[in-house]
Formats: sequence, structure tokens, C-alpha cells
Amino acid sequence: MLNNASHHPIPPPEDAPMDLLVDSFGRRHDYLRMSLTERCNLRCFYCMPEEGIPLRDKAHFMRDEEVFRIAETFVRLGVKKIRLTGGEPLVRRGAGEIIRALGTLPVELAVTTNGILIDQHIDALRDAGVRAVNVSLDSLKEQRQAMISRRNYFDRIMTNIRMLLNENFHLKINVVVMKGVNDDELVDFVELTRDRPVHIRFIEFMPFQGNQWNWAKGVGYEEMVTAIRTHYGETSVSRLMEKPNETAKCFGVRGYAGSFGVISSVTHPFCNTCNRIRITADGKMKNCLFSSSETDLLTPLRNGEDIVPPIVRSIVSKYAQRGGMDVFTGTVDPRRIDKNRSMVAIGG
Ligand code: 5AD
Ligand code: SF4
Repeated sequence: MLNNASHHPIPPPEDAPMDLLVDSFGRRHDYLRMSLTERCNLRCFYCMPEEGIPLRDKAHFMRDEEVFRIAETFVRLGVKKIRLTGGEPLVRRGAGEIIRALGTLPVELAVTTNGILIDQHIDALRDAGVRAVNVSLDSLKEQRQAMISRRNYFDRIMTNIRMLLNENFHLKINVVVMKGVNDDELVDFVELTRDRPVHIRFIEFMPFQGNQWNWAKGVGYEEMVTAIRTHYGETSVSRLMEKPNETAKCFGVRGYAGSFGVISSVTHPFCNTCNRIRITADGKMKNCLFSSSETDLLTPLRNGEDIVPPIVRSIVSKYAQRGGMDVFTGTVDPRRIDKNRSMVAIGG
């Protein structure tokens, strides 16, 4: 089914109706994040509710060729980059085949993974022309990482991180920073950038369904940068230039091979430059990570209908900021958060 992927004609970008993915605030959406599964081999407490999320019948989820057809539609509309997410994308059966098929589309293909299954998919990643891999890792201490993720795969993750570096992938490590949990490891993570070209991304702890969010557990952008500058000295840490739609504010320590950044979704949202569209594993489009409404693309696709009109309606109805939740710190209404999905069912 996926083998004839290359038979689908893709018009060259100059013919594509680019403006269909522009919202009412002028933001052009050319970055698609697709979740391949809601399942995961870890149980990170900030992502998965303690009780897990209910498993549903396979029929609710996109089949391999449906993933491809939805991706292809977005590429035709002007998407330039696709990132595969989860749950954990690599636990999906046939993940390698999907990666190879999407590699035939004229897009930059990237993956966000917890790293556990990288060794089993490294060939598919290379064959598909994937250059960038983001690995989520919240602690460099084995026991602590096991506590946060409620499973211990520490050695495999570290081995696979080394494999990605040896194979010259552009590696980013995502660290969700939480007070009293791992906020004493900021400098340890920055030290990884001394001799290696890795980019560490410290992420402010965000609210999702069932993760018992409370900003008292959060560490803000300023606090993180101050702690790091205090360690290295003010003049040794410089702010780096960022790409136009970069979500992180980026820094480097003088003389270090890699760099680090902070994703400040809570304290300084970057919604004004948002270029992201999300597709959940069950084929729902989310125009914002925090939106409580979704647009079903899978049902019309299965009914043989054109999915471009619902895509356009979703883009047009996108809010200016964080799905309409304007304030996070302090007074956010938990009922509002609970209308959104858990992170594991969105894909980050
Ligand atoms: N707050 C911040 N980041 C989160 N992630 C998952 N849940 C949260 C949360 N509540 C991160 C994961 C992964 C990325 C896709 O999102 O660690 O790196
Ligand atoms: Fe799995 Fe990533 Fe969620 Fe952890 S954060 S439970 S690794 S999807």
C-alpha cells in the first residue's frame, strides 16, 4: 500500500495554493506535527495521567495509508516540515515503513522520541533522509529518570543518544524542568554541550489533562537562564540568533560545541510566530496545542470527501494565543485544561 507512495503526484511548491494555510492573524502554517500513536513505553507523570489513558479500538486510528494521504494533502497545501510524534511514535507497528513512505514527500522529516527504540529504526530514519531527531530525557541520573517516567530504560536511552550522535543526526534533547524534581540538573545538561554538537531544550512545565499541573512546580525562563548564567558567569553565556519560527530562546556557552534553549510556553508564549498544525493519532486536526476543539479529518477522508475544506476552516478559526487561554500562571481554570487532551494523546 505504502510502496506506491511515490505515484501520488505532488505539484511543485510554486503551484501550491499556499495561502490556504494562512490564518486570520497572517500566520502561515507550514509545519505539521503528526502523532502516530497514543501509546508509549514510558509513563512520564507530566504527560500521562497516573491511570494511563483508555486504549481504544484500532479502527479509531489512522491506518498507514491514511497517515500518508493526510500528510500528502498538507504538503500540497504548503507544509514544508513534518515531525512525527506520539505517544512514542516508534512503538507503532510499521513505524519504519511509515517513515520511509513519508520520506518520499518533498518535506523535511523529523521525529520526536523517547529514544528507547532508536536502534531498531536507525536505518529507516537514515533511508528516509531524516536529519533531526529530538529525544526527551528529563534527568541524567538513572534513578530519577526512572522515577519521572515510571519505567527504567535509562541505559538504552543513553546508548541510543550516543548512536544518534555517532551517526551525525542533529540531536536535540528535550528536558521538562520541574521544581524540586530536576531543576538542579540545568548545568549538568548544559555540560553535555561542551564537546558535543547537541542542543538542549529546557521546556517550561505545561498544563494538560490529568498531569496535576500547578505553576508552583514550574520553573520559568528567567529563573532557568539566571541559574545557568550564575554558574558560568554573565559574559560566558550568549544569546544566539534563532530561526524565524523557533520556539526556544537559544544560548551558547563560550567555546562549547553545542547550545541550549528555553521553551517558555507558560511565561512568554510565542504564539505570534506559530506555524504549527497538529494531527492526533485518531486523525483529528488541532490548530493549537492548547485548543479544546478539534477537527475530524479521518471520518471525511474515509467517506471519500475532500478534507481541504475542514482543514481551512480549522486554520481560519485559530485563536491568537494558546487556544484562547490567555493567562496560565496564577488563575487558569482547571476545567478549561481538562477539556484538552493529555499530552500523550496530542504529541507535543
Ligand atoms: N509540559 C512540558 N512539556 C511536556 N512534554 C510532555 N508533556 C509536557 C508538559 N506537561 C514534552 C515531552 C516531549 C515533548 C513532545 O513534549 O517531554 O519532549
Ligand atoms: Fe511517553 Fe514522551 Fe509522554 Fe514520556 S513524555 S510518557 S516518553 S510520550
